[in-house]
Amino acid sequence: MSTHPAFWRLDGASTTLLVVQDHAVPRLFWCGSKLNEQVEIDTLLVHSDSALAFGGLDGVTPLSLFPQASTAYTGSPALNAHRNGTQFAHNLTTSRVEQKDNSLTIELQDTNAGLNLVLCLTLDADSDVAKLTTTLTNTAQTALTVDWLASATLPMPSPYRECLTQHGRWGLENQTHRRSIAPGRIDISNLHGRTSHEHAPNLVCGTAGFGDDSGDVMFTHLAWSGNFSLRVERLSNGNISVQSGILFLPGECILQPGEQLETPAVVFTRGSGMNQCTQRFHRYIRSSVLPAWTRNLRPIHANSWEALYFDHNVSALQSLIDAAAGVGAERFVLDDGWFRHRRSDNAGLGDWFVDETIYPDGLHPIVEHVRRHGMQFGLWFEPEMINADSDLYRAHPEWVLQIDGVETPLARNQLVLDIARQDVSDYLFERITSLVHEYAIDYIKWDQNRDLVLAGDGSRARAAAQPRALYQLIQRILAVCPSLEIESCASGGARADLAILEHTGRVWASDNIDPIERARIQQGFLRFMPPEIMGAHVGHKSAHLTGRVTSLHTRAIVALQGQFGFELDARRLDPHDVITLQHYTQLYKNNRHWLAQSSYWQVSTFSKALISSGQVDESQDHALFSVVAIGNMHATRPGHLPLKGLDPHKRYSLTLESINVADLAPFNKIIPAWCENQVSTSGELLMKIGVPLPVMPPQSALLIGCHREFNQ
Ligand code: GLA
Repeated sequence: MSTHPAFWRLDGASTTLLVVQDHAVPRLFWCGSKLNEQVEIDTLLVHSDSALAFGGLDGVTPLSLFPQASTAYTGSPALNAHRNGTQFAHNLTTSRVEQKDNSLTIELQDTNAGLNLVLCLTLDADSDVAKLTTTLTNTAQTALTVDWLASATLPMPSPYRECLTQHGRWGLENQTHRRSIAPGRIDISNLHGRTSHEHAPNLVCGTAGFGDDSGDVMFTHLAWSGNFSLRVERLSNGNISVQSGILFLPGECILQPGEQLETPAVVFTRGSGMNQCTQRFHRYIRSSVLPAWTRNLRPIHANSWEALYFDHNVSALQSLIDAAAGVGAERFVLDDGWFRHRRSDNAGLGDWFVDETIYPDGLHPIVEHVRRHGMQFGLWFEPEMINADSDLYRAHPEWVLQIDGVETPLARNQLVLDIARQDVSDYLFERITSLVHEYAIDYIKWDQNRDLVLAGDGSRARAAAQPRALYQLIQRILAVCPSLEIESCASGGARADLAILEHTGRVWASDNIDPIERARIQQGFLRFMPPEIMGAHVGHKSAHLTGRVTSLHTRAIVALQGQFGFELDARRLDPHDVITLQHYTQLYKNNRHWLAQSSYWQVSTFSKALISSGQVDESQDHALFSVVAIGNMHATRPGHLPLKGLDPHKRYSLTLESINVADLAPFNKIIPAWCENQVSTSGELLMKIGVPLPVMPPQSALLIGCHREFNQ
């Protein structure tokens, strides 16, 4: 081994990645804060080898970007593959490393085993977010069964001791769990066949006790909408690694001679505290992942689902559209129930033809009504699904994913189509595009309401084929409907990942719009995803999923954290509620232009009963911070809330943007002055001392505005 190992350096605004080759496969030697241009890397790297203790192998192979059992690596290898049970041990070594700007291509080969592998590492200089993908080619003459191919294996700094993951269920997504990185392997395995409610593909690792603004942390995300495994492993040699990739079902991935497997990307960044990593992810997602239309002003949605469910009729819908327009909606979305046989969730999925019994003139009377209000029109689809009670199933039972001889369990009375079949994809393409063209549909809420279990073509597993078939179908639709916007909904937030977000630019974060539970769900969602893509609606006074009764202010303040909208029967709002809702609608319209580019901050509060977060515009002239009381506070004096991200040298006027002072007053013998009269103070004081909070009863919320004073 040369005493001067080769190295490659990728630099971002404040991050450096250093890849070193001092063994057969390069390793990520440094991923962290930017190194000085002048740093003597050569000298450092000459001494890069770890010390070696007694009692183990006679050589040490540091954790490489592609750890293999052939180098005596005893952790989770990057590749588990074999040829009919033989040739399971591979020894891939470097054949080429090429750097082009901020991208590094590393090619590895094992000519004996007939394997070629390419690792592609890129650092986005602007956001400091890196991305790694792996492509394996079978260069031999026999089939290769791949059981596991990691998208990436990343070394974690040795002091890391805790990780945070997000889990949930329908209606309670993105709940945060912390655990220690003890010896052994943590394996978050998702077998739901979609990104899932149960496990988000997000992982935070860091030093003990890392927080919103403290600790050394690494964010990683697997950009994939199917089965996956996220692994954190700590070995006795001190290695701590994060590894993730597609979790294949048995026999699902067989590469024939010459065939290639490209993994989904792993996206990662290392920073100080979670807020910094969150802001980098948001920046990266905005510039490198999302469709361009997400940069347009995000319209206010009114969705028909919780107002009417399946009870569609033209005049009810028209009056709902009128009422929604009256409180400021800009896009009306006709949800489930518009197509043939769909009078309940027992039937109709797959029959994507307008139900003539409800809509004798098609959707034209609805669409025209929407347009008369100057609103856009959106339509709900659940393309990947089928009910057994549908014309489609009666004509094509063979289109369903299933395994012969095993009964496929139903979920919401439905089965899943094999959209990786060309005929299925062609049918969906034809149905969706003809409806989009006929009604000039602006937006599709693309739903997916069940897990893929026993996803097979009769005999072989087909789960991993579905996400890519989905991305292709959407791209094919967008090629002929270029101005169409698509949302990723999956019973709420079960498909929120950076792969689907290349094709869709909005996520319905949860079916739960009870603001008290939603505040936590959104906090988890926004840890990785930017606020302007998060559908967030004001629901009914009594939340349909939980029965909790909350004030309109609380519902609106929580909905203002994302793309604002309504999921309620606006016809039933009393005149006072109409005025209240109009206030929040206008507030959203006044601020959305900067909210979509803002820095998002989660604010640690001194009470478990308070959840707080805020958005600060790029120029630090405007900020909105919300505080939601999810329970009752223990202290009788609520104290100060130090804000984040303001310019310490600017003066701000501090205002209560939520118009609920009258609701708070009865709980405050004395209410802080700023709640009633705008006060002016410096960014420094707002961040160091903070905003004096009023007493907040359970289920109340506040919206604090900071606007720079220009006459200072
Ligand atoms: C899912 C969605 C809801 C609604 C229903 C319609 O649950 O998440 O918003 O569209 O389907 O069936």
